[in-house]
Amino acid sequence: MCGIVAYIGHQKAFDIIIKGLKRLEYRGYDSAGVALQNNSSLNLYKKKGKVADLVSFIGKKDTNGSVGIGHTRWATHGPPNDANAHPHVSGHKKFALVHNGIIENYSVLKKELIQRGHQFNSDTDTEVLIHLIEEIHTNSKRKLTLFEAVRIALSEVIGAYAIVVINKENPNELIAARKSSPLVVGIGDGEFFLASDATPMVEFTKNVVYLEDGEIAQLNLDSGLKIKTIENQEKTPYIQELEMQLEALEKGGYDHFMLKEIYEQPQSIHDSMRGRIRSSKGLVSLGGIKDYEEKIVNAKRLIFVACGTSWHAGLVGEYLFEELARIPVEVEYASEFRYRNPVINEDDVLIAISQSGETADTLAAIKLAKEKGATIVGICNVVGSSISRESHCGSYTHAGPEIGVASTKAFTAQVTVLTLMALMIGKKKGTISTQRFNRLLVDLESIPEKVESTLKLDKSVKEISNIYKDSSNALYLGRGINFPVALEGALKLKEISYIHAEGYPAAEMKHGPIALIDEEMPVFVIATKDASYEKVVSNIQEVKARKGKVIAVVTKGDREVKEIADYVIEIPSTDDLLVPLLATIPFQLLSYHIAVMRECNVDQPRNLAKSVTVE
Ligand code: G6P
Repeated sequence: MCGIVAYIGHQKAFDIIIKGLKRLEYRGYDSAGVALQNNSSLNLYKKKGKVADLVSFIGKKDTNGSVGIGHTRWATHGPPNDANAHPHVSGHKKFALVHNGIIENYSVLKKELIQRGHQFNSDTDTEVLIHLIEEIHTNSKRKLTLFEAVRIALSEVIGAYAIVVINKENPNELIAARKSSPLVVGIGDGEFFLASDATPMVEFTKNVVYLEDGEIAQLNLDSGLKIKTIENQEKTPYIQELEMQLEALEKGGYDHFMLKEIYEQPQSIHDSMRGRIRSSKGLVSLGGIKDYEEKIVNAKRLIFVACGTSWHAGLVGEYLFEELARIPVEVEYASEFRYRNPVINEDDVLIAISQSGETADTLAAIKLAKEKGATIVGICNVVGSSISRESHCGSYTHAGPEIGVASTKAFTAQVTVLTLMALMIGKKKGTISTQRFNRLLVDLESIPEKVESTLKLDKSVKEISNIYKDSSNALYLGRGINFPVALEGALKLKEISYIHAEGYPAAEMKHGPIALIDEEMPVFVIATKDASYEKVVSNIQEVKARKGKVIAVVTKGDREVKEIADYVIEIPSTDDLLVPLLATIPFQLLSYHIAVMRECNVDQPRNLAKSVTVE
């Protein structure tokens, strides 16, 4: 969702901004724009469509200058068009602003500003903000700097924002601020970078400052970086070293980021476990939750909150924690939880799962539970993200940057961390036998290798994809811990190939979805050898009796399902609790191939955003 890139220094701002915006394309957007300061003029270019459309629209127009701001917009207020694209300029055309988030009280502010003579050219809440800044800057009784004017304007604003403001008359300075939307400052040698995440600046600097909620920053080429709170308190910038590598942000020979990320899973799962598990010593330890281990062990209840794919990981976590640590678990959509006046006690532990660590609803759910005294554990992929900072403790998933909008390696990394956490807590609580614990550790350590062999099935998955690529509907069935895998399989197909797909607990099929089954309908079933195997076999029979097509993910060597299913995909055998880590892989590949065959935009599916920073 909306991406921000800004630059001030000695290099050509336009080149850095365009490259940066391209790197943020994964967030999802529908228009783009830049404002460049050059010789006391402000050149503004905005276009509906992709960054490439913006670049060809600009053509040979003036792109000089070493100060600029850029933006990719995911429409909220007003349709995606050139006028609504950012940056937006003030009435006197001296200031321009890019914004990620939503100004909730924009219509009240807009009415007041119209009464004062302001005229607006777009439907956006953002344009209101830059007019408000101008109003305060121009009409205040005392002479204000732009920094002060922005700070005062923000104190009148309700909502979420990450903003950057450029001043046509001051090539030495950019002003930035954040509340509930991410913004990172990169510090170079005589230059500053600003972006929604660190990816646009990784080749220029390793020194970054993650702005905190309610902070405003002045990036001045003479006086350096100054940070204050909106309430006017000075803050000392906390400079962190970026660990991200440039190669992680490139396709590395793959056609799409999604495919690269699917293939990275043996490594990313390994990285999620690195230093945290040693089967030879019977050890599992997640350093980030150690201080809160007692609290989790004694929790009366665990509440998982998440959205999208991360919510599916939470469902897998429910089975893991209930089975291994015997703690009751509730899995909640963050968006529902936050508005439900939920019952939360001090003995509750809320586990927030998020790849980006910036999802607005998940963040709001955390804040709510924190206010009510619950302990917050974050499971995030992006280091330094808002959720990781809002949590009392947590574990990073260490999957590396995930660029494809459809989540793949982040999901398996989340499930890996949840498995480690459930094992650690179960052991401490004494709810898991030593034998089972040790066996699970050995099995877990061999998962990366088994994912590797599951990936070798790609060719046959591609053949199956070719057979079902023109389907209009698909059903995914699973039981127990594999029910969330069915949900995730269906979500992947929907997201990137636009085929309608639903995931169901296999036994629920007869309470509705069975009515949809005919000879056209592919039914993807997880039928691995576990406690529910025989029951799933019966469910497959029910599908076949109605001429449905069954594609089953089975345990290597399976005979029974092979005889009745149309196609089987054989995955390596492992502990029942670890099957999701393997069974999900063929579904990822299947969705990928079908999307490619249907000529869909795999990495940036229509209407979707990678990081949903508005509710
Ligand atoms: C968006 C993405 C999904 C993701 C969900 C939650 O909808 O497109 O892939 O699962 O947000 O994101 P999070 O970053 O919190 O895991």
